[in-house]
Amino acid sequence: MKNITAITLAALAVTASCSAPEPTGASYASGFDMKRSWANLSPYKDAESFGVPKGVPQSCELSQVHVLHRHAERYPTDYPLDGEGMQDFATKLANYTKTHPGKKVGSGPLKFLNNWKYVLGSDALMETGAATEATSGANFWTKYGRLLYRADRDTMAAWNSSLNVYPNGTARPKPVFRTTSQGRILESARWWLSGFFGNSGANSSYSEYDLVIIPEESGFNNTLASYEACTGDMTEGDDSATTFISRYTKDARSRLSAFFPSDFNLTASDVLAMQNLCAYEYTSLAGSSFCSLFTEQEWKDFEYNVDVQYYGDYAWGSPTGRAQGIGYVLELAARLQQKLITSSDTSINYTYDDNTAQFPFGQPFYMDMSHDDIILSVINALGVNYFKYGPHGLPGDLNHAPKRNFSLSEMTPFGARFMSEIWTCPRNHSFKELDPVLYENPVVDSTADTTDYIRFVLNSAPLPLEGVVGCEGARNGFCPVDRFLHGIPTLEHTANYQKACFGKYPTGSQVGDGAPSS
Ligand SMILES: *[C@@H]1O[C@H](CO)[C@@H](O)[C@H](O)[C@H]1NC(C)=O
Ligand SMILES: *[C@@H]1O[C@H](CO)[C@@H](O)[C@H](O)[C@H]1NC(C)=O
Ligand SMILES: *[C@@H]1O[C@H](CO)[C@@H](O)[C@H](O)[C@H]1NC(C)=O
Ligand SMILES: *[C@@H]1O[C@H](CO)[C@@H](O)[C@H](O)[C@H]1NC(C)=O
Ligand SMILES: *[C@@H]1O[C@H](CO)[C@@H](O)[C@H](O)[C@H]1NC(C)=O
Ligand SMILES: *[C@@H]1O[C@H](CO)[C@@H](O)[C@H](O)[C@H]1NC(C)=O
Ligand SMILES: *[C@@H]1O[C@H](CO)[C@@H](O)[C@H](O)[C@H]1NC(C)=O
Ligand SMILES: *[C@@H]1O[C@H](CO)[C@@H](O)[C@H](O)[C@H]1NC(C)=O
Ligand SMILES: *[C@@H]1O[C@H](CO)[C@@H](O)[C@H](O)[C@H]1NC(C)=O
Repeated sequence: MKNITAITLAALAVTASCSAPEPTGASYASGFDMKRSWANLSPYKDAESFGVPKGVPQSCELSQVHVLHRHAERYPTDYPLDGEGMQDFATKLANYTKTHPGKKVGSGPLKFLNNWKYVLGSDALMETGAATEATSGANFWTKYGRLLYRADRDTMAAWNSSLNVYPNGTARPKPVFRTTSQGRILESARWWLSGFFGNSGANSSYSEYDLVIIPEESGFNNTLASYEACTGDMTEGDDSATTFISRYTKDARSRLSAFFPSDFNLTASDVLAMQNLCAYEYTSLAGSSFCSLFTEQEWKDFEYNVDVQYYGDYAWGSPTGRAQGIGYVLELAARLQQKLITSSDTSINYTYDDNTAQFPFGQPFYMDMSHDDIILSVINALGVNYFKYGPHGLPGDLNHAPKRNFSLSEMTPFGARFMSEIWTCPRNHSFKELDPVLYENPVVDSTADTTDYIRFVLNSAPLPLEGVVGCEGARNGFCPVDRFLHGIPTLEHTANYQKACFGKYPTGSQVGDGAPSS
């Protein structure tokens, strides 16, 4: 999600000089895969590792899973560093051709520009995105759903409503899931659920569940689109990115300028647009002539330009980072405690959370469909320190991307998924050994001496819990639920929602920990 337009493009516009080494090809001797550097435009892939081993604990019961999910492949958004920049580049080429009739605008590797058209739409979920969501829902059935609903050998192939029963055989109510009202989010939710419930028609699974659609509009409280309810600072990342873009694009600008007419004036924002075009055209048209124009380093820097935006607008570098995520964290806690929410001091609209029709308890799993930035804000609000860069945010005044743990290609590719898993284990379980798969979900006797644990898993990789209040001493990412819940008031206090969203505090640079620094 990016919809804030306050940014000075002038800062991006720097004149090009000449000197022209050959552009590199789209394949790299090192085996580098540029798609892994497209940040939030990367196709879905499980994350490698966030420093905690993957796998499932032995002799524990998978009791519940809370899914916070991102929409998948979409067209560009109308934003200067995104769709608007590409549109401007296209207009600039058209203008040049108009004012210089008969003159070619591109030569050499840019010859294709003489016949190129900007053909991308805006905002909508694409067919490939629908497929990504359906695959994710189907994968959730395979990995979690069959365990949560105790499918046996006969029913394992696909969801069957006969599985929607309590252990005593009585039917459960229809499960309830949530989404925002935005087109691509709502469609993503439907496709994901269609994948989970295993029906062949895109919406023939409607009868299996209820969907709560929370309006995504300005001023409306919505934990799945919380930037709409919060008017505080969320532009620091854009400012840092603007600085960085003018620096990292220097080489490409001078290299590519040689293939434009000498009076064309290729700017830093044009170069950024050309990189965006590679990613978006690859996604929308299954290929792009722009992809072979850039070096491995330039792709790594491209990723960093997006990382910086999100880090400084929606996460650790933003004074509202934690505030934007705390609403979902409070809802997670309420679901775990089976408590309705009857008042709100954050982005929660309590009219959606004060009744069990829209906010039910004890469901085997929950699924909330949302945006990339919400996933980041939630992880920030939880206090996961692993991704935090330093006391002044991620820097923009560099020539190249620094080493960091915060990378959107790993964290929020298209179709990203953040799971809060609940495991019921023997008390003081060690979590030393983890298995690759759970064949059958054990029934752990609730009258025995057991403890519920929570583990956060992002794109299949568990998160380290250093920094999560209450989870000190957690092993391999498993934290006792009661201690986690004990830490919630501290997380809420740290997010400082009212001040971050509506109060006065100094702005103009990134902060360290997702909250106003004074
Ligand atoms: C190139 O474009 C930028 C931004 O539009 C402008 O500031 C600069 O003066 C231009 N340079 C030339 C040589 O036209
Ligand atoms: C294209 O030309 C029009 C009309 O001359 C002008 O208003 C517009 O700013 C130009 N756009 C770009 C991106 O150069
Ligand atoms: C669902 O499962 C029940 C019980 O196992 C079975 O009788 C029924 O045929 C299944 N329905 C479908 C559509 O597979
Ligand atoms: C079965 O279990 C559910 C949930 O614990 C309970 O609400 C329901 O009353 C039980 N039904 C019977 C027939 O015992
Ligand atoms: C399925 O989608 C179609 C097309 O959007 C719509 O007309 C129809 O009402 C939907 N079916 C249900 C059960 O909602
Ligand atoms: C909360 O939700 C209700 C019900 O949809 C709506 O009428 C109200 O405007 C919302 N309030 C806010 C602040 O979001
Ligand atoms: C919306 O959020 C504000 C907190 O900023 C809160 O005061 C208000 O009660 C909320 N409205 C609803 C309907 O939850
Ligand atoms: C990444 O996180 C690990 C674990 O917290 C830390 O030791 C390491 O310094 C971090 N790396 C960078 C580049 O910040
Ligand atoms: C088991 O848990 C209890 C209660 O938290 C604690 O007092 C005890 O030291 C733990 N035992 C081990 C072996 O960790």
